[in-house]
Amino acid sequence: MNSIGKNRPSMRVWVKPSATFPPFAQPMVVSYFSLDQDRRFAPDLSQLRYMHLPRQAESLGWDLNHGIDNVQRSDHAKSNERIDNLLRGVLASGLAVSPEVASIMCLRGLLTKIMTTPYEQNQGWEILVSKFRGVIFLCAQETPEQRRERMSRDEAQKRFCHWGFKFEQYMSTDQPGCPPEVDMPVKEGEEFCCLFRTKLNDRRLIYGAEMDAVTSDVPLEDCLEDLMLAEFIELKTSRKLECVRQERNFKRFKLLNWWAQNFLVNVAHIICGFRDDRGIVDNIAFYKVEEIPKLAKDLWVPAVCMTFLDQFLSFATKTVRECPQSNDPFTVWRFRWEPGVHFVTGDMIAGRSQYSFLPDWFLSSVVG
Ligand code: A3P
Ligand code: MG
Ligand code: MG
Repeated sequence: MNSIGKNRPSMRVWVKPSATFPPFAQPMVVSYFSLDQDRRFAPDLSQLRYMHLPRQAESLGWDLNHGIDNVQRSDHAKSNERIDNLLRGVLASGLAVSPEVASIMCLRGLLTKIMTTPYEQNQGWEILVSKFRGVIFLCAQETPEQRRERMSRDEAQKRFCHWGFKFEQYMSTDQPGCPPEVDMPVKEGEEFCCLFRTKLNDRRLIYGAEMDAVTSDVPLEDCLEDLMLAEFIELKTSRKLECVRQERNFKRFKLLNWWAQNFLVNVAHIICGFRDDRGIVDNIAFYKVEEIPKLAKDLWVPAVCMTFLDQFLSFATKTVRECPQSNDPFTVWRFRWEPGVHFVTGDMIAGRSQYSFLPDWFLSSVVG
């Protein structure tokens, strides 16, 4: 660990390309829950979607703008909820909040962000960290640039953001065997999530992840056994690739993100809808997650991503554990990184503040 600035803890963002892949246990589903359009939590399968394949993979002509005037968005609700639903999921699962069960708890998207940091050129990040009962909780904090970008999104940008959700509607159904209801308004706030447990090196992790669709011809039973055996699929959209430069960027950035996001939850397949600039999907393509690194050749290396994640979690954990004020669960360490900067730095905000993210209802519900 090095120090820069006002003795702020810091770590270098550099991993040698020949790094070895750290030990990573197969992630297992330990619980699940649903969120409705108003982001209300239910410890059940109510929002689970089943994959529905079209008869052919080409000449689809799916319009991702279809019904867009009736869309139900949820940006605002999502941006305020931090890790509340993960915490609800942990409480509902009955899993103990203790380092023996997991010493790290967070959302999968945050881990994806950390993993792709060594190759990221555009977006920085801020991560808030607090400790409670010996467990380290991590929570993404919107950076000022991300906030500015979100607040200034125009209608065209909102439409681009919507296209991915509309594609999910074309590709999935809530009843296996029944066709997708593409004339219904898309509800962008609905989610089905799983809690995963795994081990990276010697550290146990629990994280929550939104799962797009399950591949099953029959409805799943509302029980953990069915979920543990279920095979999920990730749905994505991408601008169709028309030149070498587009193909290279697709491999360099999109495939990196897709690999990291899905490797973490043991999802084996991704279906991508290739669209044009007007939002028309003509064909879909299948990607095997384990083959993605080969497609991307030398543009990025999975072991670099996973080693950096391992190093960051060690650094954050050590920083927080060595700080006596972190025994207060409202104390927050804020770790920041910006593209082009070779260090992640941390600063501490002691006691209750606008950054505190572990809610009172969670702290008082944890018993034993
Ligand atoms: P695409 O990824 O196909 O563009 P996910 O693929 O992770 O399940 O996300 C589903 C969709 O949510 C995305 O589809 C995109 O439409 C939207 N989405 C995800 N992250 C977003 C973000 N940070 N900003 C805006 N829209 C986002
Ligand atoms: Mg999703
Ligand atoms: Mg998706």
